[in-house]
This record gives sequence, C-alpha cells and structure tokens, in this order.
Amino acid sequence: MRHFIIDCDTAEDDILSLYLLLKNNIDVVGVTIVEGNIPFEQEVKNALWALEQINRDIPVYPGSKRPLIKNFMTVEKVHGKGGIGDILVEPKRFNAQGKHASLAIIDLAEKYKGELEFLAISPLTNLALAYLLDNSIVRKIKRVWIMGGSIFSIGNITPVAEFNIWVDPDAAKIVFDAGFNITLVPWDVIINYPVTDEEWNLIKNMRTKMSELYIMMYSHYRQYSSNIQKINGHPHPDAITTAIAIDERIATRKEKRFVAIDNTDGITRGMTLVDRFDADTRWSDKPNAEVVYEIDKKKFMEKIIDLLNWF
Ligand code: BDR
Ligand code: CA
Repeated sequence: MRHFIIDCDTAEDDILSLYLLLKNNIDVVGVTIVEGNIPFEQEVKNALWALEQINRDIPVYPGSKRPLIKNFMTVEKVHGKGGIGDILVEPKRFNAQGKHASLAIIDLAEKYKGELEFLAISPLTNLALAYLLDNSIVRKIKRVWIMGGSIFSIGNITPVAEFNIWVDPDAAKIVFDAGFNITLVPWDVIINYPVTDEEWNLIKNMRTKMSELYIMMYSHYRQYSSNIQKINGHPHPDAITTAIAIDERIATRKEKRFVAIDNTDGITRGMTLVDRFDADTRWSDKPNAEVVYEIDKKKFMEKIIDLLNWF
C-alpha cells in the first residue's frame, strides 16, 4: 500500500484530490494545511468537512498560515468565499490535530521512511519549513508531487507566475534546491485539458451524491475559469496532479529538467524557469525535477467518473 501526505490550501480541487487518493486505496497518513486559496481557518474547516462527508477521520494538521518571508493574498474571487463557492462549511464531528503540519511531516517521514509520498497541491511553505528543521526528510520522502509553476511562463496570478509558487517562492526555491525526487505538473500544461461543456453536463446528469457535491463545489470556479481566465470550461490543476501520482501512465510525456524559481523582488517574482534544453545550457545545472508535458485526458476523466460513481 502507498502512503501519502496531501498538503492542501483546501478549495474544491484540493478536496477532489483527497477523495481521488482515498477512492484509489492510497493510505493517506495526514492532511496538512497551508496558506493559500482562502482564509486559513476556513481551509482547515473545509478539510475536516470533506472528510466528514465520506466518514474518514484522517488526521488534519494545520501548518503555516503565511509564507516564509513576504506577504501574499488569498483568492476568494477564484474559488468563492468558502473555497467551494460562497458557502462556508462547518465541520461537526472531526477536529484538527494540535501538532504543526511541518512537525507532522518530519514524524511521518520517519515513520514511513523510504515509502512516504508527498502531494503538494498548494504553496510549499509546510514542506520547506519541515526541510529546514530536518534535512533528512529529503532521503526519507520517496516522491514529491507538485502542482505548480509553468513551463512557458504562463501565469494565473501574475502574467508569468502560477499561484502556488507565487504565494511562497522562497519556500519553493528551498524545496526545488533541496534534492527531493520531484515530479512537477505545471499550470500551462493543465489548462490544455479543461472539463468541457459536454463533460460538465454528463456529470450533472449522473445524480450521485459525489457528482452533486462536485457540481456544487465547482460551479463558482467554472464560471471564473471561463469568464475571467477564458479557459474553455474549468481546469483540474490539483486533481490532474493527483491522478498522475496515482497512475503515472496518465502523464504521457515527461522530461527531466532543471527548474529554477524566481524569488527576487521584481515583477517576475514567483515565476518558474524551466530549462527546456537538454542539460547542457548556460546554466548547466542538473535536472532537479521531472516535468509533465502531456497527459491522457481520457484516462484522467475515467478516474473522475469512477470517483463520482463512488456513492
Ligand atoms: C493552484 O492554485 C490554487 O488556486 C489551486 O488550488 C491550485 O492548487 C492553481 O494555480
Ligand atoms: Ca490547491
């Protein structure tokens, strides 16, 4: 059995990712929460509420409430006030853990040494903090799956920066420089595979509890994606990353690349620079990540439909 920590800034796609892991029999040993999409306390509540919906009392560890150095902003305009639209959910039965997420990462990396996988679908502050406290986690964590950045500098929060990296580029730099075994799923790849109108209507007509939850959670995000971001439908940044972590064959093209993070103070702060040429460039740095370039949309949607048929 595979053991995962899922690190969330809990909006709709983070929740779907958590469900995907559980539906696919992954042992989720911890849900860690980090600053990002919406106010922190609501992110924690969303995670607990999401687990209540499926009756799985998995430990939720609140972590960093802000980036390492600079300020950031939440994006309720993208995900709604509550991250799943404007509804503010309240968990009724489950409670968060007292231990900080970064300390939990260190302990779980020791407990599942060599086996633990870390799914980062959010800013990288919790992981960077854990690494700063205990460098040995680099050797103990088997894989780090990251949704973030972009290959060709196409941003969603600034013209060139993707949100997860932009929130805490200092943490991202620490993580990318540390030597983790990273697979990166970039934003400009993700947006090539939006959920179309046809797929949206198909999901609407499924009328399972999960499909109704899906429609409820994604309606706000879908409107924002198509009206403001001009994406033809809505994308699944976190859920595609998760599906690839579950079944690597969903990534049909991957390249080992050197990825640099711009954490300088200028207008390109938060940008990822992916060395697109094979190793031997001016930078001549070794690849530090496997970058996903293409995915099998059909296989991905099969995973989504399978999940929405769960109950
Ligand atoms: C990423 O930022 C968040 O808004 C989403 O949850 C996703 O992780 C996309 O840039
Ligand atoms: Ca996220």
